Amino acid sequence: MISKQPRHFLTLLDLNPNELNWVIQRAIELKAIRNQGEIYEPFKNRVLGMVFSKSSTRTRVSFEAGMAQLGGHAIFLSPRDTQLGRGEPIDDSAKVISSMVDIVMIRTDEHSIVEDFAANSQVPVINALTDDYHPCQLLADMQTFIEHRGSIQGKTVAWVGDGNNVCQSFINAARQFDFQLQIACPEGFEPSSELVTANKDRITISRTPEEAVKGAHLVVTDTWASMGQEEEKQEREQAFAGYQVDEAMLDLAADDVLFMHCLPAYRGMEISENLFSDPRSVVFEEAENRLHAQKALMEFLLLKPAI
Ligand code: CP
Ligand code: NVA
Repeated sequence: MISKQPRHFLTLLDLNPNELNWVIQRAIELKAIRNQGEIYEPFKNRVLGMVFSKSSTRTRVSFEAGMAQLGGHAIFLSPRDTQLGRGEPIDDSAKVISSMVDIVMIRTDEHSIVEDFAANSQVPVINALTDDYHPCQLLADMQTFIEHRGSIQGKTVAWVGDGNNVCQSFINAARQFDFQLQIACPEGFEPSSELVTANKDRITISRTPEEAVKGAHLVVTDTWASMGQEEEKQEREQAFAGYQVDEAMLDLAADDVLFMHCLPAYRGMEISENLFSDPRSVVFEEAENRLHAQKALMEFLLLKPAI
């Protein structure tokens, strides 16, 4: 089904707060529908193209399973097996792929690649992680928080660790969902300075994780070395010493704090060995919610409900 002016989801700023809240509430409904065993297949004959030039477990499984559950079909496209990997331009690939499928998701390196793809696509394009942003992760994270604690508006979130793609999406989330974000990261590992400046009313940056988690209703971290930074692993382990989130660090946060991590996680590095067994950790629900949140996102982009 070709739409003349497709909506894309390249960052959280592509949907307004009302639309984002619709997606989260719909994700909660779709989760209930699935848990009740109800069949709901609005996507019969719809096809999702999934372009992955980086590894994935959660993102691939959630999009592919989600599309199947909604009655559609998904095609996994890796650069290794497509002409993308042999240098066919993004613009040409976008024109061709989007002429044959109904919606596309891309996981790649530079954010400009998803922007170029979207600019040449006749169907909605979803950013499934770039070096700069991971907005789908934030849909699942916001859903998980809201399911446990209700609205996140006015709450305090602490990000401990690298100012990476997930952190930068948390900055956008702070703006769109209206919460305060206290970031603790070592010098040289801050999120983009433009993003920090544009959101200075919403975020603080410190060098002290203990300070950042004080009073936080949600504590979040991520790997110290993202995909593509494998060679910096050792240097980063040194830089991030003291930034491990453990049970004692959560004790400094609000009494009802939740802990999240997008996964995959590295025990003994950014998290302590047993943090995932702590009752404050909701990481596996968070991972499951990728499924529900992205199904709701695809419904939003393909079926365009009136909000
Ligand atoms: N959190 C996340 O995006 O996981 P994958 O890399 O496994 O998709
Ligand atoms: N920051 C991590 C997230 C993985 C889901 C990475 O980009 O590798």
